[in-house]
Formats: sequence, C-alpha cells, structure tokens
Amino acid sequence: MKNPFQPIPAKIIDIIEETPTIRTFVLDLLGADFSFDAGQFVSLTVPKVGEAPFTPSSSPYVKETIELTIMKVGKVTSSLFELPVGSIVGIRGPFGKRYPIEEFAGKEVLILGGGVGLAPLRSLFLALSADLKKYKKIYIKYGARTPQDIVYKKELASWRSLKGVDVQLTVDNADKSWRGKVGVVTILLDDPRLNNTSEMIAVVCGPPIMMKFGTIKLLEKGFQAKNIYLSMEKNMSCGIGQCGHCRCGPYFVCKDGPVLTWEQVKDIEDPF
Ligand SMILES: Cc1cc2nc3c(=O)[nH]c(=O)nc-3n(C[C@H](O)[C@H](O)[C@H](O)COP(=O)(O)OP(=O)(O)OC[C@H]3O[C@@H](n4cnc5c(N)ncnc54)[C@H](O)[C@@H]3O)c2cc1C
Ligand code: FES
Repeated sequence: MKNPFQPIPAKIIDIIEETPTIRTFVLDLLGADFSFDAGQFVSLTVPKVGEAPFTPSSSPYVKETIELTIMKVGKVTSSLFELPVGSIVGIRGPFGKRYPIEEFAGKEVLILGGGVGLAPLRSLFLALSADLKKYKKIYIKYGARTPQDIVYKKELASWRSLKGVDVQLTVDNADKSWRGKVGVVTILLDDPRLNNTSEMIAVVCGPPIMMKFGTIKLLEKGFQAKNIYLSMEKNMSCGIGQCGHCRCGPYFVCKDGPVLTWEQVKDIEDPF
C-alpha cells in the first residue's frame, strides 16, 4: 500500500514570475503514478526545510506535470523561492475532496477569487473549460491589491475571448496604467446579469476577509448556502485526518475539505 507520508520526487522544470511575491512552479512528476482532481491539495516538501500544503493550479487532465502557484510568506515558501530550475522537491497527496463538477453541469458558475486564491480556481476553470458547452455560463470575478498583483495576466485575457466565459477584474489600488474597475472584489457581484442566483453555483477562494464578505454578499444576492463552495485554509500537518490540526467545527479540512459549502460551515463560529 502507498505510504501517505512518503513524498514522491518532482523536478522544477519552469518558474513563472506571476507577481513580485507569487510564482508558478511547474513540476515534472518524473513518471510517477500521480493524479489529482480539481479542488484537492498536495503537500510540497522543500528538502531539509519542511513541507506546506498547496492546491495545484494546473489542469487535472495533464498527467506528466503539475503546477503550483505559490505566494512567498514564510519559511517553506521563502526557501522554495531560492531554488533554481532543475531542483528536486517532494510531493505528497493528493488529499481532500474534489469539486463536484458534475453537479455544475447545465448551471451558471461564478468563480470568485482574491489574490493567490485564483490558484485552485484556475485548476477548476481548466477542468470546466475542457467541455465549456456543459455549463450555461462561467463568470470569473477576480480581485488583486494592485495591477502588479494580478496573477495569470495573459491567461485571464485569453479566457475572456472564450464563448460562454465572462471575466471581470478589479484592483484595490489602481495606478496610471489601469483602465478597469477599482474596489474590493465584492463590488463585482453588483452585476445585473447575476439574476438567476438561486440556481447558480459560486466557488470562492481568497484571503479569509474576502471569503467572509464574499459569502455575505453572495447570500444577499440570493445564492443558496448549499451552492456556495468555499476553500478553507486551516493549518495542516498529516493531511489524512489523523492529527486534528485542521479541525473546523465537526470537519477535518484535510479530509472533508479543503472545499466546504456554506451550508456545512454556517453554524461554526468564525469558520474562516
Ligand atoms: C488546503 C490549502 C491549500 C493552499 N493552497 C495554496 C496555494 O495554492 N498557494 C499558496 O500560495 N498558498 C496556499 N496555501 C497556503 C500555504 O499553505 C501557506 O502559505 C504556507 O503553508 C506557508 O508556509 P511557510 O512555511 O512559507 O510560512 P510559515 O513560516 O508557516 O508562516 C510565516 C508567516 O506567514 C503567515 N502566513 C502563513 N500563511 C499565509 C498566507 N496564506 N497568507 C499570508 N500570510 C501567511 C503566517 O501567519 C506566519 O506569520 C494553502 C493552504 C491550504 C491549507
Ligand atoms: S491535517 Fe491532520 S487531521 Fe487534518
């Protein structure tokens, strides 16, 4: 049986500078028998430093490589940012549950992201875009602090031209070059086209404050609690429901999540 604590080696084959503090690391899985579904996460080991959880940002249908979009915040991520192309890191997982994308078929899907939170949502969008006709419409609404902090700039522009896909961006603080909207991401929910909200799916990932106010606004707009999917970021250790580090009310986020619906977490005190 596969040992869940044993990482497989993966080689960094490309590093894409998304923003001054966020990079996408493209990892070659070196032929390992590894796959994931959109929404699941992995544990990345930087040798001699430690490990941390990240949700792949790449398509789950690509098997040879995996992409992780990572913000530099502390010990593991800073060490990772020091590594050059060609370095070997470790991957454990995948852990947790996937997005139930078969339940999104025939519906309008709203993808609401903030900052590096667009990473798992990119993986979800790449999974959905494999067969766009299945979904009534996909709205991508994304906010970053400044224009320089926007991730996947070229991809967002190309997704905009896809039939059935609508992309809207906002920044908290604009500069002279910015021609788009200014304000926190929830302002993008004031969109008169979102008029069938009781049937719509909302998938949300971003900083805790954005998740909180995003959820409040979605509920005000008429989204149903069971249709709001939230990426819960709790401290993780084992990743397999054994240590209790990631507890959120009755749930272990590593095993029952990391994506939980508002219906599941609404009675938990301060779920974010
Ligand atoms: C299921 C799951 C999926 C995740 N997916 C991603 C992903 O795709 N991309 C990504 O960049 N991160 C993701 N994260 C967050 C990521 O795991 C943490 O940023 C990482 O563990 C930090 O490790 P570190 O050793 O570098 O920082 P640490 O040394 O542990 O922390 C250093 C300091 O940074 C602060 N800090 C920790 N995390 C964050 C954060 N997220 N934002 C701001 N400050 C923070 C801590 O409070 C501490 O003060 C995910 C987390 C979970 C639980
Ligand atoms: S990380 Fe150990 S129980 Fe979830």
